Amino acid sequence: MKKVSQQISVQAFAPATVANVGCGFDVLGFAIEGPGDLVTATFDDQPGLRIRSVKGENGRLPLEVKKNTAGLSALSLLHHTGWDLNRGICLDIEKRMPLGSGLGSSAASSVASVVAVNALIGSPLAKQMLLPFTVDGELAASGSAHADNVAASLLGGFVLVREHHPPDVISLPVPKELHCTIIHPHIEIETKNSRKILRKQILLENAVKQWANLGALVAAFYEEDYALLGRAVRDEVIEPVRSMLIPGFYQMQAAALKEGALGCSISGSGPSLFALSRSKSQAHRIGMKMGEVLKTLDLDFDLHISKINTIGAEVISEK
Ligand code: HSE
Repeated sequence: MKKVSQQISVQAFAPATVANVGCGFDVLGFAIEGPGDLVTATFDDQPGLRIRSVKGENGRLPLEVKKNTAGLSALSLLHHTGWDLNRGICLDIEKRMPLGSGLGSSAASSVASVVAVNALIGSPLAKQMLLPFTVDGELAASGSAHADNVAASLLGGFVLVREHHPPDVISLPVPKELHCTIIHPHIEIETKNSRKILRKQILLENAVKQWANLGALVAAFYEEDYALLGRAVRDEVIEPVRSMLIPGFYQMQAAALKEGALGCSISGSGPSLFALSRSKSQAHRIGMKMGEVLKTLDLDFDLHISKINTIGAEVISEK
């Protein structure tokens, strides 16, 4: 018999993420500390699943369950578990990161939602089993069922997505000294659109470079080899196309590398950039230099400096 929680309200947090990490388009991602989304799931006095509120992002996200990634992924989980929606559930979503930033905003909402709902209904599934439902949310948000953001947000650390459907995800070791600088220029890029501009075919010689770098990057994580990591964070396939959407991209990348970044590329589908380095102070200096480029372009931005978040999504309160 299914264990039903005594809790009436559960709040979960899911962190922002960096997808692709240069050479791993759609298959590699990591979670960062700081930005993320909060979702509270509460037993409701009306049957069904509803979204009661969305805080943040100026009410731009729909309250309709089937049009909202957090709603869709929760619904998918509830159907899978056979939950009787005569005992209704409502969701309150708090966006603590901007939409269209390249930091996995829709993924964080989906992940926080399934983690909260799963805990509310008595945790029928272990955390890693929640991934397929979050991929459903991603499909609705971007028209593509990639799992790199959702897997990193759910599990934390670096994740390699060998297969999206059904998900086969490998958690990779996180080199201890690694720090990340994120610069988010204040422009918005919809993932759907930045996927549309990608070429469907690539040159074999670029593919060879890309998979050589991806293999090398995975080896660098296991070996804690920062020099190899730096050589491997390259993107021969996606960055040359998407960089045209980001003002000052190559100047920011050059500034980061000059300041000693191990590697620097586009975070997810942009416009944010990430740079990896070995200390907090260096990560900070890199951010300042990248920011100088955006100042010359009169573009506002946010900076985030963090270690790699190895925890991923978690329940933060139960009442
Ligand atoms: N891998 C995805 C992309 C992440 O680059 O389009 C964005 O959701």
